[in-house]
Amino acid sequence: MKRDLLTILDLSRDEIFYLLELAKTLKRKWKEGEKFPDYSKKTVGLLFEKPSTRTRISFEVAIYRLGGHAIYMTPRDTQLSRDETLADTAKVLSRYLDGLVVRTFGHNVVEELAHNSTIPVINGLTDTFHPCQVLSDLFTLMEKRGNLENLKVAWVGDGNNVAHSWINAAARLGFTLWISCPEGYWPDEKIIENARNLEGKNIFLVSDPREAVADAEVINTDVWASMGQEAEAEKRKEIFRPYQVNGELLKHAPSDVYVMHCLPAHRGEEITDDVMDGANSIVFDQAENRLHFQIALLAWLLG
Ligand code: CP
Ligand code: NVA
Repeated sequence: MKRDLLTILDLSRDEIFYLLELAKTLKRKWKEGEKFPDYSKKTVGLLFEKPSTRTRISFEVAIYRLGGHAIYMTPRDTQLSRDETLADTAKVLSRYLDGLVVRTFGHNVVEELAHNSTIPVINGLTDTFHPCQVLSDLFTLMEKRGNLENLKVAWVGDGNNVAHSWINAAARLGFTLWISCPEGYWPDEKIIENARNLEGKNIFLVSDPREAVADAEVINTDVWASMGQEAEAEKRKEIFRPYQVNGELLKHAPSDVYVMHCLPAHRGEEITDDVMDGANSIVFDQAENRLHFQIALLAWLLG
């Protein structure tokens, strides 16, 4: 049976650890020039309705490294722009492709494509979730710390799609997650409640970002206005200012805290240059590991 990755909850705890170990092995093999898995007959489509640097390029390179082919499409170039249904599109693409990565607005779009596909569908970001980002971030943390035991993560800023995927990760793995957002910008209550009913017992919501980072090993942030929220960007700049990840906030965290950002960053807004380029930052290792993790993900999903 085909598997999809629409949210982290599509994976069991064991599957997450399997993928993290596979990513580690394949990253080492690639770096050491060892024999690599061969998926030379495989073709993966990328259907992207929003811009992307990391997700698009890392998925394209991932499939090339596996010996396969990638086809990039925007809905504009397809008959979706002339009202062909998502269901019909999914059925047709399933006859040509071996997998489909989708970046779009509504999460219902990836659900509908997955429901009507006979090939694996991977969520490359929706308004609600960004599972590939957070899974590869867990891979980065596993590399840095050796394991994911007793992990303590802080999320500071907007309770957005990436925050939701961190909550789902905590729901599966049970690590401690402090979330600090301005009033009105908290993550979706239903996603938090669902996580707390699973392994996410240690999810804490705190208004003061200094409290969130006080005992954290990792501080995570992201843009204050996500793709699709451009019209709110100016208003959000004022509201989110106390949630900036800057040198002052870092004084309240352990001195060796890791700073993560999925990128792209708006330097001077959610994160300052000194922090982004400073000794605590691991943002570019994170970006690189999108590639290594997604090679493992494709290898597993394509079978
Ligand atoms: N982090 C991330 O998904 O980056 P892109 O928007 O560049 O793909
Ligand atoms: N929250 C951001 C993440 C970008 C990778 C957005 O959705 O625009």
